[in-house]
Amino acid sequence: MDSKKRRKILEKKQTIHDLIKRASSLFDPLSPFDSFRHYRKNDLSMYLESGRGDRLSSPLKQHIRKLLKTNMEGFYGSDWPIQEKAKRKEMSSTDAHYIIVREVRYGKPYESSTRRICSEGCNQIAGFVHYRFTLEEEIPVLYVYEIQLESRFQGKGLGEFLMQLMELIASKNRMSAIVLTVQTSNALAMTFYMSKLGYRISSISPSRTNIPTMLAKYEILCKTFDSEAKAVLETNDEEQSKD
Ligand SMILES: CC(C)(COP(=O)(O)OP(=O)(O)OC[C@H]1O[C@@H](n2cnc3c(N)ncnc32)[C@H](O)[C@@H]1OP(=O)(O)O)[C@@H](O)C(=O)NCCC(=O)NCCS
Repeated sequence: MDSKKRRKILEKKQTIHDLIKRASSLFDPLSPFDSFRHYRKNDLSMYLESGRGDRLSSPLKQHIRKLLKTNMEGFYGSDWPIQEKAKRKEMSSTDAHYIIVREVRYGKPYESSTRRICSEGCNQIAGFVHYRFTLEEEIPVLYVYEIQLESRFQGKGLGEFLMQLMELIASKNRMSAIVLTVQTSNALAMTFYMSKLGYRISSISPSRTNIPTMLAKYEILCKTFDSEAKAVLETNDEEQSKD
């Protein structure tokens, strides 16, 4: 490879690295999208605020752990104890960005302040999204680690709203795709992402690589925003239509 080509590749790598660093260090990625702080639809009245893994209060961490267990233990089956441990570790990382969804009660708008999350008790928490800015196959992506809603708030459009917000945050920070992992046993979530939101099985998903299908109990899904990400992270149409 000639030195000019090598320099270009290095410059591109540096640019991507800077993008991830800048996005990861944002205090409140929600701030450009003020109209998304509220969700009022289908009898729900919700308020969204940003959080970071290293700033979550202990009661909030406990609440998140409880919600994860309630929603996900059944899908992981005997793998749950290992997964729970891994999730507990991931939860507090400095790279972990959160959207915390609170129920607005008695018409009282909730004041935004990351440090105060849960200081008034966690009983208003309706769910959360844990996401990160990271690299997949050298492509800058917003990776949705978790999206979890309390059962009484599910099926009312809130999940779709939160995933739209993820797309906005990803685009604003010049990420080229959204990537996420779903347990194959979680049929409702698979339908939610693939049929409702147009996600596709990624070329890096176990079912598209050499990992024996028996061992792989999950799929990696993606939605890409440019041709390079599409070429790297998506499988071709023929492969998708075999599913
Ligand atoms: C998956 C989840 C985030 C979707 O959010 P949501 O607010 O319930 O979904 P929406 O109301 O925006 O969209 C509903 C669609 O999603 C699917 N869906 C997924 N879970 C659903 C649920 N528990 N109840 C109803 N619909 C659900 C259906 O396909 C539904 O389609 P429809 O609108 O044609 O009926 C939410 O249901 C949830 O937190 N589930 C439990 C945890 C989980 O599985 N997280 C995903 C892990 S990868």
